[in-house]
Amino acid sequence: MKRFLALNDFTIHELRQYIDRALELKQNPGAESGALRGKTLALLFLKSSTRTRVSFEAAMNQLGGGSIYLNPDTTQISRGETIADTVQTLSRYVDALVARLYEHDMLLEMADNASIPVINGLTNFNHPCQILSDLMTIHEHTGRLEGVRAVFLGPANNNLVHSMLHAFPQFGAHLTVCSPKGESPDPSALQFAQQTARKTGAQILLTRSPTDAVQNADIVYTDVWFSMHEKPTPERQNAYLPYQVNADLMRKAPSGALFMHCLPAHRGHEVTDEVADSDQSIIFDQAENRLHLQKAILLDLLDT
Ligand code: CP
Ligand code: NVA
Repeated sequence: MKRFLALNDFTIHELRQYIDRALELKQNPGAESGALRGKTLALLFLKSSTRTRVSFEAAMNQLGGGSIYLNPDTTQISRGETIADTVQTLSRYVDALVARLYEHDMLLEMADNASIPVINGLTNFNHPCQILSDLMTIHEHTGRLEGVRAVFLGPANNNLVHSMLHAFPQFGAHLTVCSPKGESPDPSALQFAQQTARKTGAQILLTRSPTDAVQNADIVYTDVWFSMHEKPTPERQNAYLPYQVNADLMRKAPSGALFMHCLPAHRGHEVTDEVADSDQSIIFDQAENRLHLQKAILLDLLDT
């Protein structure tokens, strides 16, 4: 059973194929308009979403299929029906499932119990749809992925960072994670990145200094300081203040550096309006490309 759970489950060849197909679909949006006629995608989201939900639902419509959004409060999950029973039931009705969950283990349990493809719409651990479409966006703007220097500023133990570690070094793209003292990414994701980087020549760095980190950056990326599953504390909030992406910091990066954010942004916290709305910002291209990239995923998993 095909599944889309983590970017380190895929070879570089498979990842490139998704990006290439998404670029083609963007050029020619009507090309596959009837490809998923009669197919249904269910979306089971235990957390809020704007982009992931709407881009998947729109993608299904544009490919000729349909979608059903499942609110946990109005399904039997809220009354304790097990994940295993829920996905075995859904497998009898629909053709694929996108899940947005808290614990990554719950996603693995879902995928193991499903007889349909399961797609990861974000867990506490990773966010593969976002980062693969971001690689497409970087390719569109810079014309390459190999040798691109990306810097992520903010929380190190972050779902975007983990998907970046799973994919950037496969493409030979360099990644610096710049975070406060005492923070580091998940050890397994870091180890995968370091091993892959040794083969591809990518550099994976963990640093503390935002000024040093952005000096040679092609991409300056940030995310909310507190993810949906986290409780903000004043201590951590203070620790992140020096990592804000503002005009001062962007001036320390090369003039052609691009600003990226998966959105939603907490403007005035991790990024200022001045940067988010600047010519260097490609945040809405990122949001758009979710649609094209996820069409490529759906066609791969569902087009028989
Ligand atoms: N970037 C992203 O996944 O956005 P949503 O939370 O709105 O889906
Ligand atoms: N790290 C963020 C990403 C939101 C798309 C979160 O998990 O809330």
